[in-house]
Amino acid sequence: MCGIVGYIGDEEATPVLINALKKLEYRGYDSAGIAVFNGESLTVRKAKGALKFLEQKIATEIIKGSMGIGHTRWATHGEPSDINSHPHTDVSGSIAVVHNGIIENHAKLKTWLENHGVVFKSQTDTEVIAHLIDFHYNGDLLKAVQETLQRLEGSYALGVICQSDPERIIAVRKDSPLVVGAGKGEHLIASDVPALLEYTRDVYYLQDKEIACLYRDRVEFFDEEGQAIQKELTHVDWDVTAAEKGGYEHFMLKEIHEQPKALTDTLRARIKTYASKSINLEEIGFDASWAKAHRVVICACGTAWHAGVVGKYAFEHYARIPVDVDMASEYRYRDPIFDPADIFIIISQSGETADTLAAMRMAKKGGARIIAITNVVGSTLAREADLVMYTWAGPEIAVASTKAFTTQLMCIYLIALQFGSLRGVLSEKDLEEHIGALEKIADQAEKLLSNKEEIQRFASRNFNKTKAFFMGRLFDYAISLESALKLKEISYTHSEAFAAGELKHGPIALVDEATLVVAICTQTALFDKMDSNIKEVKARGATALVITYDDETYFDKTADEVFRIPRTLDPLTPILSVIPCQLFAYYCSVQRGLDPDKPRNLAKSVTVE
Ligand code: F6R
Repeated sequence: MCGIVGYIGDEEATPVLINALKKLEYRGYDSAGIAVFNGESLTVRKAKGALKFLEQKIATEIIKGSMGIGHTRWATHGEPSDINSHPHTDVSGSIAVVHNGIIENHAKLKTWLENHGVVFKSQTDTEVIAHLIDFHYNGDLLKAVQETLQRLEGSYALGVICQSDPERIIAVRKDSPLVVGAGKGEHLIASDVPALLEYTRDVYYLQDKEIACLYRDRVEFFDEEGQAIQKELTHVDWDVTAAEKGGYEHFMLKEIHEQPKALTDTLRARIKTYASKSINLEEIGFDASWAKAHRVVICACGTAWHAGVVGKYAFEHYARIPVDVDMASEYRYRDPIFDPADIFIIISQSGETADTLAAMRMAKKGGARIIAITNVVGSTLAREADLVMYTWAGPEIAVASTKAFTTQLMCIYLIALQFGSLRGVLSEKDLEEHIGALEKIADQAEKLLSNKEEIQRFASRNFNKTKAFFMGRLFDYAISLESALKLKEISYTHSEAFAAGELKHGPIALVDEATLVVAICTQTALFDKMDSNIKEVKARGATALVITYDDETYFDKTADEVFRIPRTLDPLTPILSVIPCQLFAYYCSVQRGLDPDKPRNLAKSVTVE
């Protein structure tokens, strides 16, 4: 939800801001803007639509200045428009603010400010911040920001500049991500690390309510009470190219192709190979005490929640432990029952999803121990959980999650298998067999990707179907959920997922000649059941694509088409079976002339409710 950037240094700020915003466009792209200080005054330029419209607007004029802030927006309050774009300024136009998050008490603050004579220009919640800073400003911008923060309720990452305080950018965060980059003679802020990589790999992660004052040659930090604090510099070793398209037409396709490497990276450090093969989770602090839990609760949103559904099946199967899997957005408002002997596994690519963080904090308060599975080092989730298992997927830029999902699955399997082994459910031989299968899976994913043209051809024949249903049983049901989400997100096709056995309890009423049914069939013991379900939908006119093993002929006569994935152990198939579905969604989106990287109405990181 929105990306913010800021630059202070010896270079011209405008190109740096635009360049950094390009790396954050995945966070929001309905409008963009910059504010640059030229030594005398602030120039603000904003434009509705994608960043390229802002670029066009400023192409014909030179906006000079070596300090500035920028924003790319995902509208929450007020429609996408030039006026509602950030930066927002105070009445005189001398203080400019960019904001990611939501100010929950903005209506009250707005009324208060209006009663003090302020006339608002936009419909945004953010504008109150600029006016409040102005209200509190008495020659010290830091003090004015600190006083303003005391009046704000909600979430924010802020970048603030002021023409009467021209040597610094003030930045602060609460429940929205913000990173400070330290370069030579320059400092930057950004909502996410990829925006900084071209300028520096040395970053500071801000904790909630910490304030950073960025000068050209130094950065100072203050805690909530205004006390100066020291912060640790973190060196990010991501490759710059990891945040670029590298020859692929879209980030999504690149990220689908990066899955074999991401899977290998996520697995490698966690396997011990001396004597016999075993799982090594000591690096994350996981010891036998964790496996004594009475129950595992998995909480997440969207795609990460689907990884949790796979997790439920995996934990029950391998470790014989009760598992609840919950959508964080439901969990946080329920009246859940806590047991200090519960273990919570919280899954989030970004580590910043508002609902997911709220659920984690509730569980923590209830006394549960938390394992975080996340892709973003230093994210709020990573900082607040008891244990962190990183998905070494590298930056995921496309809005639709792909490599983050399969690496989340890898982490889930490793933890479930380790639970199973420590609880004495899985024998050493079983464990070794599973580790061996996981070790092969990256190559199998590579092999599967080499057949992607098959899916491309299938998509070109079926992209204009008005309905697509995904069905499966057990692990295949979990992947049906994820596949239907992927297709609806980026191709806007009405797609749904069904547990195949549920079909005849209602959904089959929807099936007709216009329906595409993708049946995921990898759970061998249930092949006959799936075969009957496919026959049922075909009898109602549907076209059926079956995804099954490459050496399996069971469905050859029933299906209209079969896409084959390399054989692995039945419970591990989700890592492979989702890949053709990701490709199918991608190609349908492209066939429909859409941009799969930037689906309408969505943003990468949902840091607001
Ligand atoms: C779908 C997708 C979303 C996210 C969800 C949670 O492709 O990406 O459904 O999975 O918004 O985000 P994270 O994992 O960052 O908590």
